[in-house]
Amino acid sequence: MSSIIFLGGVAIAEEENNYIFSTDYFSGNIKQWSRTTQALKGKENIRCLEVGSFEGRSTIFTAENICNGKDSVVYAVDTWEGSDEHTQEEKLTLYDNFKHNLKNHLDSGKVIELRGKSDEILLKLLSKIKDGNEKKFDFAYIDASHWAKDVMVDTVLAWEALKVGGIMIFDDFYWNVGNHDHVGPNPAITGFLKSYNSMYKIIYSGYQLHIKKISDRPKDEPGVNQFDQFYWKPFVNKIKVLVKPFVPEFALEIYRKNFK
Ligand SMILES: C[S@@+](CC[C@H](N)C(=O)[O-])C[C@H]1O[C@@H](n2cnc3c(N)ncnc32)[C@H](O)[C@@H]1O
Repeated sequence: MSSIIFLGGVAIAEEENNYIFSTDYFSGNIKQWSRTTQALKGKENIRCLEVGSFEGRSTIFTAENICNGKDSVVYAVDTWEGSDEHTQEEKLTLYDNFKHNLKNHLDSGKVIELRGKSDEILLKLLSKIKDGNEKKFDFAYIDASHWAKDVMVDTVLAWEALKVGGIMIFDDFYWNVGNHDHVGPNPAITGFLKSYNSMYKIIYSGYQLHIKKISDRPKDEPGVNQFDQFYWKPFVNKIKVLVKPFVPEFALEIYRKNFK
C-alpha cells in the first residue's frame, strides 16, 4: 500500500520514494515528535539511537528530521525477526522492507544497522562508550520488544548511553495499563520513572512518553516528583471522571471519608 502522508507539516512521501510498508506504527507520532526534537533538527554531529526499527518508518523520520544535519547518524537496533505481536507475514518481509526503504541512508552511512538482540547490542555500545570508542547519544527511541521485562532492560541500558540533555521517547506508554501488566511497556516505564525521578524532565505525556535527561545522578530534593504530577494525577483523574456516573453516592462518600 502506498500513499503520501502529511502530518504536522512534515511529509513522508511513500509513493515518490517507492517505500514498502506493511504496517504503520509511526505516522500518528510525527506532530509531537517534530515539537519535541525541534532543537536537534539540522544540527551537526547529532547521534540518534533507535531500539526497534521494523520496516524503517520511524528510522526514516529520524534520519530526515532529527539526525539530518552534517555528520549526524542514526543507529538502528533490531533483530528484524519481529515481535510476538507481529504476524507471520510481517515477520517474513520486514527485514527486506527495511533494507529497501533505507537503502539510500544505509549506503550513505547516515543510518547504521545493528542487527541483534537489543540487550546484547546496547551492552556492546556501552562498553565502546566506556572505552572511548563511541560517543553518547542525543536521542533514543525505545520501541523494540513490548514485554515489560525487555522494555526495562532496553530503557536502563539506553539511558546510560544517553547524554545529559538528550531526549528519550517511549512508545506504547499506555499499552495495556492495569491489565496483565507484564505484557506491555507501562510497568517498566513506570518503574523507571519512579527510580530515576529527579534525573529527567517530562516533555510530553500521552500514549507515548517524551523525556529529557537532566542529570546523571539522582538528587534528594523534596518536592521533585514529576512522576505523580505528570503520570498518576491525569490518569487517576481520567478514570475518576469515567467511572463516577456508575458509582453510587454512598460508595463515593466512603471513598471520600477514607481515602481523600
Ligand atoms: C513495533 S516494531 C518497531 C516499529 C518502528 N519503530 C516504527 O515505528 O516503524 C518493534 C521491532 O522490535 C524488534 N524487536 C523485538 N524484540 C526485540 C529484541 N529483543 N531486540 C531487538 N529488536 C527486537 C522487532 O523485530 C520489530 O521490528
